[in-house]
Amino acid sequence: MSGRLEIRDLRVAYDRAIAVSVDHLGVAPGTLATVIGANGAGKSTLINAIANWSRAAPRLSGVITVDGEDFSRVSACDRARRGVVLVPEGRGVFMGLTVEENLRAGVGAARGAGGRAYALAEIYDLFPRLYERRRNVGAALSGGERQMLAIARALRMAPRLLLLDEPSIGLAPRLVALLLATIRTLVDGGLTVLLVEQNVVAALEVTDVLYLLERGRLIAGGSVAAMRDDPRIIAAYLGGGHG
Ligand SMILES: Nc1ncnc2c1ncn2[C@@H]1O[C@H](COP(=O)(O)OP(=O)(O)O)[C@@H](O)[C@H]1O
Ligand SMILES: [Mg+2]
Repeated sequence: MSGRLEIRDLRVAYDRAIAVSVDHLGVAPGTLATVIGANGAGKSTLINAIANWSRAAPRLSGVITVDGEDFSRVSACDRARRGVVLVPEGRGVFMGLTVEENLRAGVGAARGAGGRAYALAEIYDLFPRLYERRRNVGAALSGGERQMLAIARALRMAPRLLLLDEPSIGLAPRLVALLLATIRTLVDGGLTVLLVEQNVVAALEVTDVLYLLERGRLIAGGSVAAMRDDPRIIAAYLGGGHG
């Protein structure tokens, strides 16, 4: 299994303000790690830094390795080519192309990535709804369908480490559960995933390791079993005081 992520001494700054300061974060191969935190905590800044992708071009320092290879100075494009694939927050799909055209577009670029490109048939098994909608254009899809398509496109790029920034944002609870269950299926199939999620209760159901980010720093992290009982998690996310 591949996709082991190790981050050391990562600092990300916009202008003069340090937005993220993480001394260590690790994701083991074939597991699902989830980063939670309030709005503005730095979740997107962190996950974008792993992909070296950002419109704002923040300053980065520190070391990011994937399967022991130093990716710190690798461009966003080459990281994606080498299997570090990001689905950014609110990522669009090609609105004028059908679902199937979206899934066929740009796949050639992924040759030689560290991971395995998912076949179209596998994608449709994972996301039956995309099969039903395969002849519909992106513009005709619901928010949930678009999010599924964005993830499916990432799977076509042969990820070894899949980075997902709030894929469930704006979705109805039933769809959130379905989407997270599908992500769990991917991980059970051997994929390594780092997920950013605001929906903590739903995320706890599928996650292996949970990290809590506050004002750019990881203030807690551990197995789901341990984190469920962490007073900081309970107070802030699980309706403190219960149990
Ligand atoms: N493009 C940017 N320019 C300047 N500051 C930014 C930019 N993007 C985010 N920030 C700041 O970085 C911090 C973390 O933001 P972000 O990573 O988007 O948090 P989250 O995803 O957890 O909501 C916030 O204080 C935010 O204002
Ligand atoms: Mg964000």
